[in-house]
Amino acid sequence: MPNARIAGMGMYVPDNVVTNDDMTKLVDTTDEWIRERSGIHERRFINEECGASDLALEATKIALEKANMSADEIDFIIFATLSPDYNFPGSGVLLQDKLGLGKIGALDVRNQCSGFIYGLSVANAYIRAGIYKNILLVGAEVHSTGVDFSEEGRHIAVLFGDGAGAAIISATDEERGVLSTHLHANGAKSMELCLINPGSRKIPRYYDGIWDDGTLYPQMNGREVFKHAVTLFPKVIKEALETNGFTTEDINLLVPHQANMRITEAVAQRLKLRPDQYFSNIHKYGNTTAASIPIALYEAIEEGRVKDGDLVILAAFGSGFTWASAAIRW
Ligand code: UT7
Repeated sequence: MPNARIAGMGMYVPDNVVTNDDMTKLVDTTDEWIRERSGIHERRFINEECGASDLALEATKIALEKANMSADEIDFIIFATLSPDYNFPGSGVLLQDKLGLGKIGALDVRNQCSGFIYGLSVANAYIRAGIYKNILLVGAEVHSTGVDFSEEGRHIAVLFGDGAGAAIISATDEERGVLSTHLHANGAKSMELCLINPGSRKIPRYYDGIWDDGTLYPQMNGREVFKHAVTLFPKVIKEALETNGFTTEDINLLVPHQANMRITEAVAQRLKLRPDQYFSNIHKYGNTTAASIPIALYEAIEEGRVKDGDLVILAAFGSGFTWASAAIRW
């Protein structure tokens, strides 16, 4: 049975840097509030019309180059996003068309912050089963056009940024690659972090008042999310370690979903990790949801923080609630 390894990664963020001071012109906030609460200094916002699939395309070009591969070698696409270009069809088929990839399959994953790891688990299973050899897995988000810059939405608007990360997951006979994935969800908490409209439940879907009740914007119970994140991140990371007979000492690099610096630090403290054992770049990009893990992993590789043979742990928590981890022998 082949193993599934990450053969190349890429990332793309729009050029438009929006600092916390820039945010104060859009939202009633301060640099101090944002930094203290989240660790974010700046994020990127698109400043011309483009969708998650456009950002994903740029990240994919770099991933292909790093994998030393041409687009026509990809035999399946998995696209994780909560901010697709359109309600339907999914962004996976749009990316397939932009890459000129003929008739290969394209699957969209709707697991928000955990989307990249959910997608990785699918890619791993397909490759181990011998169904595909090279899968393109992307996480991409355009949040900036969909957040609420009024007082009701400011605790969310300041946290999120636009960007994309891509990974080429390839079959290998070597003793390396994805060792395990663990996926979890708790739908009872679905309303704690959600975007309700336009949804299919309402009759009519575009009812009178839809513009006034806040449901066209993401809603978040920040404290509830925070509380669950700091307990479930460590739990799912330990699950990844114990399944493979490792301890926290064995972690070379933890790449967590970049939700909030305070969450990452609380998790590191609970697991007693040294600073060199975990990666953060939230100060530069904010929370890019499904894109945050591949963007962080790409930068960690570029900074020389991931070497052949290293044990890399990916972990995520977010809307759903969903949470997940992956253990990778690099
Ligand atoms: O991928 C998962 C994504 N989500 C997360 O990771 C979020 C997890 N949660 C959090 O990180 C925190 O809950 C937040 C950073 C979102 C908020 O921090 P908090 O300490 O829970 O603040 P809060 O929402 O309870 O608000 C505290 C105060 C309020 O003012 P009063 O009532 O104390 O006068 C808010 O109105 O901060 C105010 N506030 C702001 N002030 C300046 C809320 N948003 C802002 C803002 N700028 N952007």
